[in-house]
Amino acid sequence: MAVAKKQMKTPHHVKDLNLAPKGHGRIEWAGRSMPVLAEIRERFSKEKPLKGLRISACLHVTTETAHLMQTLHAGGGELVLCASNPLSTQDDVAAALVDSGISVYAIKGEDRETYFKHIKAALDHAPNLTMDDGCDLVSSIVSDRRELLKNVIGGTEETTTGVQRLRAMEQTGDLAFPVISVNDALTKHMFDNRYGTGQSTIDGIVRATNRLLAGSVFVVLGYGWCGRGLAMRANGMGADVVITEIDPLKALEATMDGYRVMPSLEAAKIGDFFCTVTGNTSVLAMEHFEKMKDGAIVANSGHFNVEVDIGWLEKNAKKRTVREFVDEYTLKSGARIAVLGEGRLINLASAEGHPSSVMDMSFANQALSAEFVVKNSKKLEKKVYPVPEDIDKEIARLKLKAMGVKIDKLTPTQEKYLASWHEGT
Ligand code: NAI
Repeated sequence: MAVAKKQMKTPHHVKDLNLAPKGHGRIEWAGRSMPVLAEIRERFSKEKPLKGLRISACLHVTTETAHLMQTLHAGGGELVLCASNPLSTQDDVAAALVDSGISVYAIKGEDRETYFKHIKAALDHAPNLTMDDGCDLVSSIVSDRRELLKNVIGGTEETTTGVQRLRAMEQTGDLAFPVISVNDALTKHMFDNRYGTGQSTIDGIVRATNRLLAGSVFVVLGYGWCGRGLAMRANGMGADVVITEIDPLKALEATMDGYRVMPSLEAAKIGDFFCTVTGNTSVLAMEHFEKMKDGAIVANSGHFNVEVDIGWLEKNAKKRTVREFVDEYTLKSGARIAVLGEGRLINLASAEGHPSSVMDMSFANQALSAEFVVKNSKKLEKKVYPVPEDIDKEIARLKLKAMGVKIDKLTPTQEKYLASWHEGT
């Protein structure tokens, strides 16, 4: 009865509040791999660095995000959370958060209209701080809700695509407040984008298809941080990995890492699996689909569902849903192409996103960046800022401590040697 009352008081729009017990269990499990965030939460609950700060967060609503929300809450933040992707919400987690008194607006599979209604609800909170994964809050404020600007002291951004959008805003003079690029922290992209996306994308593809990767040709489109991780894991599962790129340096790196690199139109003819991770649009389009083998499997793990031109398939092929998260398009030639998770980031659509252990570091960066914005709000300009190096190093130190890994310290002789230019051969 007491629980029901609390739920009624916390504004929300989630699928089903009865899912809360399941969500609490899964959140607890995730927490066991998030020691760094736990340490920050403990300090936040004593020091309350975010006291009275209204925070609107637009993030994937997962077990790990629940821990970030609890950390911000412990720090005194007043929160509203909405989904940063229509397919990534874990409904049980959304229910559990509401049960804990945190406002959530997110339902897995919500349509575009509901998605933007939820963003609006998060913005109606009149945030002092925005926390984005893909820049939808910042872009909505700047384009449509400028009256909110007077309250905002700054924001944080989680992903590569969001940072790309923020930098474009900064270039055109449209960025209206300072934003910390959490993605640029080494303890974020070196681990989350590479090992997190690598493992969870394979997990998503395998859960959606139950196909064997060993012996298949697995095409990774884009050899950035996510692409490297994905290629490494597909290779480890016994696939023959092919890379496509537009950047000569990344193409060279992929070649020396031992992969075949070729133009996407060549790769289209030989691939069994295709996965885009470029942050770019129309990376797989008509000219590729028409060359693909019958039965080719296509997925995306980039932030937006623009990397695979599903619009063309919708107009030019016959669609049939063969199993959950698998839409099969039959082209006029008779070739069948299976698109996974509607072309939305497959690791969150058909799996559970990154393992908690990497999100521990990403979200430690989020929490400490929020604190940094509050402490430095008077000094910060309308720019995209990196996460300060001391925060990055501290997170790495805490993670190593939690993992029981010890490292060496420079000896005085080594420090002296490194600081001098006199000694040579
Ligand atoms: P990145 O900038 O390190 O790598 C992107 C790579 O794609 C670059 O090497 C670029 O040269 C290449 N590229 C661009 N256009 C291309 C094209 N037409 N064909 C082939 N290659 C092309 O970016 P990162 O960090 O790897 O992120 C990639 C995407 O994944 C972004 O949208 C990011 O927001 C998203 N992301 C998704 C995650 C998930 O959970 N699924 C987690 C982290 C990032």
